[in-house]
Amino acid sequence: MSPATSTAIASPNIAFIKYWGDRDHDLRIPANPSLSMTLGGLQTETSLTLLEPGAEDVLILNGARVSGPPLARVSGFLAHVRAVAGRSEGAKVDSVNSYPAGAGIASSAAAFAALALAASSAYSLDVSPTELSRLARRGSGSAARSIFSGFVEMQTGQHDEDAYAKPFLPPDHWPLQDWVAVVDDQPKPIGSSEGHLLANTSPIQLTRVNDAGRRMQVCRHALIERDFNQLAAIIEQDSNLMHAVMITSTPSLLYLQPASLMLMRSIKAWRAEGIEACFTIDAGPNVHVICTSEHSREVERRLRSFEVVKDLIHATPGQGAKLQNTVAT
Ligand code: DP6
Repeated sequence: MSPATSTAIASPNIAFIKYWGDRDHDLRIPANPSLSMTLGGLQTETSLTLLEPGAEDVLILNGARVSGPPLARVSGFLAHVRAVAGRSEGAKVDSVNSYPAGAGIASSAAAFAALALAASSAYSLDVSPTELSRLARRGSGSAARSIFSGFVEMQTGQHDEDAYAKPFLPPDHWPLQDWVAVVDDQPKPIGSSEGHLLANTSPIQLTRVNDAGRRMQVCRHALIERDFNQLAAIIEQDSNLMHAVMITSTPSLLYLQPASLMLMRSIKAWRAEGIEACFTIDAGPNVHVICTSEHSREVERRLRSFEVVKDLIHATPGQGAKLQNTVAT
């Protein structure tokens, strides 16, 4: 008797050392290692219900049935799970996000972490945490990190077996805060998956990739020592390097907007004043402001005073993916 419905929850993550570009695009083997903080307080809940053998997969996102590329991506992922598990049932996937779309938070990380867990449970795939992380990576590279709690690092390599995340430090090691300043909530014209394909067209991608080991080392050290100034310098440099690659790709990807730059400048000035805050920006214009809990209220107050900041979303180091319940038939 196999469970008919499995439900899993997972949180998104923000990368301090970012993955940009793939070594193998189909397998989503990242070009460089990465290090992230799992964003507690934000959550995706995904339920997977098994259908008849051979049935078409169904995808429901935030209550609405979805087809086209998002369904194809989920179905492709499930086809891999079914092939590994030796199963043939189709699936209905019902996924709900607790945070708004277009908020500058990569929802694919939480979505595929939750889906990997729910699917491995529903299809009775017995996987270790490392195997689960590798599985989630096949859906979305950054999802490999959302399997784990707190501060998480992801190694990479030439092969599927080499690319997976592992926990680095627990959430209570350092209660850093992430204030996401939303300056634009429109869907981005080019998503990460397409963007990764362009990374190698930038003449500086190789330099960025070759230097990633050093940035990982500095970031690990700053986190272990809770050295905010060192952390701020490496996080901002890593984000700037990724955007430099994006801007110098062909075609050029310019995600930053005037409001993003204005916030970047302001946050640097605040740090010069002694406020422990720094910025990091993913594939979009919205700014993640990472700060210590001591300076969180002041950072929030200052961010709220900007007219360009349309919304503020708050997160702290959180838990990895968890199975909620399975309903047996
Ligand atoms: C800028 O994991 O969203 O957020 O594998 O195509 O789903 P896919 O890409 P995704 O890429 C993440 C890019 C990033 C940096 C990071 O999270 O490391």
